[in-house]
Amino acid sequence: MTRSQTDANAIEVRGLVKHFGETKALDGVDLDVREGTVLGVLGPNGAGKTTLVRCLSTLLVPDAGTATVAGYDVVRQPRQLRRTIGLTGQYASVDEKLSGFENLYMIGRLLDLSRADARRRADEMLERFSLTEAAKRPAMNYSGGMRRRLDLAASMIGRPAVLYLDEPTTGLDPRTRNEVWDEVKLMVSEGVTVLLTTQYMEEAEQLASELTVVDRGKVIAQGEVDELKAKVGGRTLKVRPVDPARLPEMAAALRETGLDGVAGATVVPDEGALYVPILTDQQLTAVVTLLGSRGFGIAHIGTHLPSLDEVFLAITGQKTTGSELSDTTSEEVAA
Ligand SMILES: Nc1ncnc2c1ncn2[C@@H]1O[C@H](COP(=O)(O)OP(=O)(O)O)[C@@H](O)[C@H]1O
Ligand SMILES: [Mg+2]
Repeated sequence: MTRSQTDANAIEVRGLVKHFGETKALDGVDLDVREGTVLGVLGPNGAGKTTLVRCLSTLLVPDAGTATVAGYDVVRQPRQLRRTIGLTGQYASVDEKLSGFENLYMIGRLLDLSRADARRRADEMLERFSLTEAAKRPAMNYSGGMRRRLDLAASMIGRPAVLYLDEPTTGLDPRTRNEVWDEVKLMVSEGVTVLLTTQYMEEAEQLASELTVVDRGKVIAQGEVDELKAKVGGRTLKVRPVDPARLPEMAAALRETGLDGVAGATVVPDEGALYVPILTDQQLTAVVTLLGSRGFGIAHIGTHLPSLDEVFLAITGQKTTGSELSDTTSEEVAA
């Protein structure tokens, strides 16, 4: 059975409020997640992401507002709601001492599966998340990537219609992060609705179709990932000419040819650099070719993914308030 994408909302949140003393962790949040889609909730540390997930999982009772998941009210129908969701992320519930198989089998039994069904489902999920060979080893001996895959497998045992992924790749190396993304994409292709929280614009881009940006318990932007990306640029090209005095001339050349995109290039005199938002490989090639053909001597050229700071700056004109920021990945470009 696959669930197909419809116009119905799997998650509806209206005016959700949760305060911890003076801290307004959620300060009136509205959001919808359509069935069969992935909503990315992007925000810095302390934005309220985990509080949102915990409210939607019935682990926390909101102070005000309403939220329904698969039609069940988080406050009035917690038991029914819990049966439709899967949760994984920062606080995964894997028992370190048990093997991968034992963990999954136990969860199956907790979900009222018979012994035979729990065994079958555990084997299925181990196979599905490429853990069959490691099935008998204690989870404490798993690598970071294997642990995340076991977390995902655990959250899928009960065939949830709605899955919460709370910062599923924070702290993982890039290769393992890619593996987790592949798994999530596969689950989504099978029709699960996903609410994904993340601090990485790149992760939201990879996995989500729509994006809600949160900061200090408030939604500060909402829309399709492509719309928000067009504002920010998918990547940023940084060019440093040998002669900084030529920066304005470079910016003008890009403006004349329309190669600097919707947002335009930015000259940063302090760094002796020009920043160009890049949306496509064609644009990147054209910019590099143009600068070469005009004879600007280039000291440094490279691209990086926009950091959360740059995203926030583009959307709100303000820096984030979070503490841990700017996970910027750089790659050199051959000029
Ligand atoms: N149980 C709690 N008691 C007190 N303050 C909390 C609690 N949980 C979260 N907070 C505070 O609420 C805010 C939002 O936290 P959280 O939802 O964990 O953010 P995020 O997951 O986006 O990093 C933070 O300021 C955090 O310190
Ligand atoms: Mg969190």
